Amino acid sequence: MGFYDEEETAREYIAMADGYDGSELITAMSEHVPQGASVLEIGMGPGTDLNILGQQYRVTGSDNSRFFVDLYRQERPDADLLILDAVKLDTDRKFDCIYSNKVLHHLSQDELQSSLERQNQVLNKGGYLMHSFWKGDRVEEMHGLKFFYRTEAQLRLSFERLYDLISLVTYEELEPDDSIYVLAQRSRKLHSQRIGQAGPLAFMSTQPGLIP
Ligand SMILES: C[S@@+](CC[C@H](N)C(=O)[O-])C[C@H]1O[C@@H](n2cnc3c(N)ncnc32)[C@H](O)[C@@H]1O
Repeated sequence: MGFYDEEETAREYIAMADGYDGSELITAMSEHVPQGASVLEIGMGPGTDLNILGQQYRVTGSDNSRFFVDLYRQERPDADLLILDAVKLDTDRKFDCIYSNKVLHHLSQDELQSSLERQNQVLNKGGYLMHSFWKGDRVEEMHGLKFFYRTEAQLRLSFERLYDLISLVTYEELEPDDSIYVLAQRSRKLHSQRIGQAGPLAFMSTQPGLIP
């Protein structure tokens, strides 16, 4: 059991995060991701961003903490929710966009890379990613949770292999320039190279999405 799984510490997080949300990221995303697109949120926490995303998208919330998923379901019994780990993303479903806000910084570099590969398979053709990170070049640990800060250069390298970068923007969450978001699109070049390729890396969209 970790920080986000235990009721006491998860509620501490909810109190700490009060007043913060991902509106800025969602506004930037909505310039590219059309209304009505299917969006998977990884690490939905109490669902602050999921509620905002739900105003224009068909949303699926997910978290690896059952506490948060159960808490949200109490308020919205009909919500589409999954228990998912950000690295494994153990689902057969596909989405037009995958979103997270200050979640993937809990992943080591290898885990981030695996997650981005898996996300590539979970996205529909031409699908988008929007993820935010704490900016910096250090690792911290709090309550047994690791925080991997990342630089623009590191993020560029991590995403560019599988995605076309649309924007990589430094912004303020708590202090000036303490955060970065990455908006990217599943690489069409890579997709066309992979079609017809056999083996574990070969993939094709099986569910139609909104994105042409
Ligand atoms: C900062 S909160 C996200 C808050 C959310 N954006 C909101 O609108 O309330 C981070 C969340 O990431 C989740 N998380 C951390 N590591 C995860 C992982 N490996 N897979 C899935 N979720 C994870 C935590 O359980 C927590 O709910």
